[in-house]
Amino acid sequence: MTYQGTVALITGASAGLGVEFARQWAERGADVVLVARRLDRLEELAAGLEKRYGINAHVIAADLARPGAAAALRAELDARGISVHTLINNAGFGSYGAFVRQDASQINEMIQLNVVAVTELTRTFLPDLAADGRGALVTVASAAAYQPTPAMAVYGATKAFVLSFTEAVGYETRTSHLRVLAVSPGPVGTEFFDVAGSRNAAVGRMATPEQVVTATRRALERRKTPPSIVAGLGNRISTLASTLTPRRVTLAVSGRILKASFPSSTTLPAANRT
Ligand SMILES: NC(=O)c1ccc[n+]([C@@H]2O[C@H](COP(=O)([O-])OP(=O)(O)OC[C@H]3O[C@@H](n4cnc5c(N)ncnc54)[C@H](OP(=O)(O)O)[C@@H]3O)[C@@H](O)[C@H]2O)c1
Repeated sequence: MTYQGTVALITGASAGLGVEFARQWAERGADVVLVARRLDRLEELAAGLEKRYGINAHVIAADLARPGAAAALRAELDARGISVHTLINNAGFGSYGAFVRQDASQINEMIQLNVVAVTELTRTFLPDLAADGRGALVTVASAAAYQPTPAMAVYGATKAFVLSFTEAVGYETRTSHLRVLAVSPGPVGTEFFDVAGSRNAAVGRMATPEQVVTATRRALERRKTPPSIVAGLGNRISTLASTLTPRRVTLAVSGRILKASFPSSTTLPAANRT
């Protein structure tokens, strides 16, 4: 795993885990490309990293939930003459509440960001990443990927997708030197729960972004990078238990822990059409 002299593209770099990914890669000498919607935050982070670590930090403001966002990002990088050696698919969000009450446009946005953008960015950059082989492809999944998550039904499903997808792509590229890793954190102290609209999903001990990113780096730096990791011992135990327990039991436990409740038929909202 090489940092010095490589460029890492980090999505969702304006807050939370993305800021820490950028900091730890820059600290080790990598140039970074910071992508998110909030330009002011990206610019502030870029200036700080350049000053502190003497690297180049590029900033691209982009809404990755927009169709065609990956191609537009690639075109912008090509226009600036920037090659990417590491892709960290980190941008994502969740939303708490009964599925039937969720807004259809927000559901689409979540799938577009958590699934479509991850897939398209990976498809766009993978040939270059694998040909170079010095860097890594990292995707941030979640402990939510290991069982259905009532009250966060779509979010859990998107993370199950990225976990499966990343592991499979890692296997396909195993003869290249590229390191491919899906990282699944449990709750982390970021803006995630404010965006999700509830702290009911903050189940278990809250990790810091530094702990999660350090665990990710250590897995990447092992002689043989594993296909995926679950960050934190407690989360490793609970995700293992989820996969070993009968599905019906796992689902019931998950629903209870997430405090999923469902509206009675009389209070159901009308069909939500996009
Ligand atoms: N925190 C947790 O407990 C936890 C647990 C497991 C997995 N995760 C995963 O970790 C990843 C990072 O989340 P976080 O905890 O760091 O949350 P966060 O603090 O809310 O940060 C999310 C980042 O994603 C960016 N983003 C959101 N929508 C975007 C869009 N449409 N286009 C481009 N960028 C967008 C945000 O930037 P802008 O708003 O500026 O666009 C922000 O930089 C996510 O994939 C999340 O699902 C988090």
